[in-house]
Amino acid sequence: MSGERPRGAASPRRRPGTRLVVAAACGLVVLAATACGPRSGRRHAGTAEDPWIVGMSQCNLGEPWRVQMNADVRAAAAAHPNLRVIFKDAQNNSLTQRAQVEEFVEQGVDLIIISPKEAAPLTGPVAEAYRRGTPVIVLDRAVQGDSFTTFIGADNVRIGREAGRWIRERLRGRGRIVELKGLMTSTPGQDRNRGFLEGLDPEHNRGLQVVFTGEMQWLEPNARREMESALATNPRIDAVYAHNDPGAHGAYLAARAAGREREMLFVGIDALPHEGRQYVAQGILDATFLYPTGGAEAIDAALTILGGGTVPKHVTLGTRLFTRENVAAGGQAIN
Ligand code: FRU
Repeated sequence: MSGERPRGAASPRRRPGTRLVVAAACGLVVLAATACGPRSGRRHAGTAEDPWIVGMSQCNLGEPWRVQMNADVRAAAAAHPNLRVIFKDAQNNSLTQRAQVEEFVEQGVDLIIISPKEAAPLTGPVAEAYRRGTPVIVLDRAVQGDSFTTFIGADNVRIGREAGRWIRERLRGRGRIVELKGLMTSTPGQDRNRGFLEGLDPEHNRGLQVVFTGEMQWLEPNARREMESALATNPRIDAVYAHNDPGAHGAYLAARAAGREREMLFVGIDALPHEGRQYVAQGILDATFLYPTGGAEAIDAALTILGGGTVPKHVTLGTRLFTRENVAAGGQAIN
């Protein structure tokens, strides 16, 4: 028995009651460590000489929206010399991103920000980092469960619902629709699909029909290919709803190549000033919904957590609708 006793463990000669007390005290210590996990992660002083180190794992930098998120994080952090951000790009690979989270923990960063590629594969490493006392801010795409410090992102069900409603109203309850989905193993893909069907409400609007769905994994070239199939098999299409602006633009390019771009509406999500909003202003897209990056909010939250404060478990960011009519005036808030 004594061979199994870890070094420093209570001597077996203690009274049994003492052992119980020790066990209970250990339990309390473990509990306390979990409860103040975010604090125990701090390894740096948070001064200009010894700044807090934040590890940021971005799922990819191949898409303009993610480049913007990193730029927003960098700009917000630049105002705080007591904090330094180390950026890693997972190059759209969940295994690489898992390894990045683990590396950050080993390296002893004070806090992790992650914008995960997919929910399931990143849940474990995020939970493990959090359990070991490193606070984790999850940005935009969610993980499963609640083993993280805070989630910051817009309400994708809401955005999808608004897009569905907008298309239903524009088509006056009649029309043939194409839905180009993002990555369905990521939460925004799932939520934007679910919300869209709620807002479109084809059950009560029998004249509305989703005639084609494709998964374009957030990428314009994939969306273009999917749309070529949709066009080939559907002599009439009245609207395309794509889960992001690159997808809507890819669909537009396919329709234009077939000489059919005037036949249908194009609706996307993201509304970056130099991407989606510009497409709307140019008359390429009919509408886009703002999907804020949350970069600045993540840095605010990081400073609060590292300073010993508490943040809400979920922070929901707002959205805006941009159409040809309102884009020049800055769009319209969705409340
Ligand atoms: C970029 C992106 C955005 C989209 C977001 C969803 O990778 O595809 O276009 O809104 O991810 O997480």
